[in-house]
Amino acid sequence: MENIKLCVFDAYGTLFDINSVTQKYCEELGDITEPFSNLWRSKQLEYSWLRSLMNKYEDFWCVTGEALEYTLDYFNIQDEILKSKLLKAYENVNCYEEVPKVLSILKEKKILTAILSNASPNMLNKAVENSKINQYIDHIFSADSIKIYKPYPSVYNLVSKKYNVAKDEILFVSCNTWDVAGAKSFGFNVFWINRFNGKKEALPFKADMEAKSLIGVSKVFELR
Ligand code: LAC
Repeated sequence: MENIKLCVFDAYGTLFDINSVTQKYCEELGDITEPFSNLWRSKQLEYSWLRSLMNKYEDFWCVTGEALEYTLDYFNIQDEILKSKLLKAYENVNCYEEVPKVLSILKEKKILTAILSNASPNMLNKAVENSKINQYIDHIFSADSIKIYKPYPSVYNLVSKKYNVAKDEILFVSCNTWDVAGAKSFGFNVFWINRFNGKKEALPFKADMEAKSLIGVSKVFELR
């Protein structure tokens, strides 16, 4: 890891706590809060992959809304006010508590930092502003610029194209195992943030390092 020049972060689940969105409305959702959040997330990802394979791209905000529609229907919830509250909360999602400190350590060590996400530019700008981490992020890459989603290789290639940095000088950080596999198969060094004690994918594209939070990433660079 000593030759890493650039640290690239996935957004949702890695930097930003999307479970906090439904938690905010746990009164209204009751004991389905967690399964609701999980289904919303899995449908959001499924629709991004389906639209990529069908070559029928719509941005991640649209896909997030379509996945929410499915989830409300699945749980037989007809509540337009709750729907708009959930979308508003998604737009204003916050970062995990360790994020600002970890990013500030990377900047002290002169490491370039970027976000590489399927989320639309507007979603990412709002999440970064809301979390007050603008000062620590050198660049934001959105899959929207090439109208296809991760794990398609061209999305990871956005980073290699912008920075004159070799793939093995880049560390990609994600909590999503599918994204870990995608980034590893592309050729990046990969750090898996296993926040929820998940299982590794049975795919031949494994993370190089693993930790329960981003603090594990800053530990790699603190030794420099
Ligand atoms: C992201 C979501 C898909 O790309 O995790 O930020």
